[in-house]
Amino acid sequence: MNHFTTLSDVPDPKALIQKALKIKESPFSDTALGKNKTLGMVFFNASLRTRMSTTRAAYNLGMNVMVLNVNADSWQLEFEDGTIMDGATAEHIKEAVPVITSYCDVVAVRSFPELKDRQQDYSEKVLNAFKTYGSCPIINLESATLHPLQSLTDMMTIEAFKKTAKPKVVLTWAPHIKPLPQAVPNSFLQWANQMDVDLTVTHPEGLELSNEFVGRANVEYQQDKALASADFVYVKNWSSYHKYGEVISNPEWQISLKKLSATNNARLMHCLPVRRNVVISDDAMDSDHSIVGKQAENRLYAAQAVLKEILNGLK
Ligand code: CP
Repeated sequence: MNHFTTLSDVPDPKALIQKALKIKESPFSDTALGKNKTLGMVFFNASLRTRMSTTRAAYNLGMNVMVLNVNADSWQLEFEDGTIMDGATAEHIKEAVPVITSYCDVVAVRSFPELKDRQQDYSEKVLNAFKTYGSCPIINLESATLHPLQSLTDMMTIEAFKKTAKPKVVLTWAPHIKPLPQAVPNSFLQWANQMDVDLTVTHPEGLELSNEFVGRANVEYQQDKALASADFVYVKNWSSYHKYGEVISNPEWQISLKKLSATNNARLMHCLPVRRNVVISDDAMDSDHSIVGKQAENRLYAAQAVLKEILNGLK
């Protein structure tokens, strides 16, 4: 594997999930693999889990890690061609990326969408600039439209907790006060479409995701109908794809213990961070349904599996 920016970069997603599960059993088996190799992590946006789990994964493989918080630590970057740079931006991406990648063996990037111009966000301007101008493998730490490290984790978690060969997996929209990206649900559906699961996505009308990601998933507009007999309930807010970036208010879609009680004793998943009593109620978060902590822990092993594949490709 060279880059890890989207599902199609992965030759065999199911095999990668199994490799991540194996790494969890024995995380210190490859401590020499990353000797004298450096991971650069470039953050345009905040992060807790992605930052810490990917750092730890690199350390478990013997890598060095450098972190750059763009805007806080470095020059403001220009992305447009032909701009007269007499404003706030002091360095062009065409110089910055070759320099960053010259110091690193692998570079990982987090860059959220602006949620103003769909075409611009879905062009993945920042991530693609790293692929175009960089000289080393690039890892997506959540881009404008995708979060594949989260999805690899999610598939690994479902694989570990499933009790039937083909569990019913429901991705449900839930309310939020801010416009959030579609990256997590897009990626979740992209990966889940490849798995042996009975897949449903449920949301109020007007919150349809791009068909490119929905794939073979059932679309159900009644949350209670969707949740019936679910084995896994994956909760996530997203802003409107069609009325791009619009926040749609629908507080009755909050996930509660009462709603989970109507499932097949479903496992409750969320990528975190989660706003309690807005997205998911306290009684659901604190119930035995919740596996969000185990899910977050698996971020480490998913990141380690990806780094290991990339390091093996460097040899
Ligand atoms: N789930 C996730 O990506 O968490 P962070 O934004 O904290 O990295």
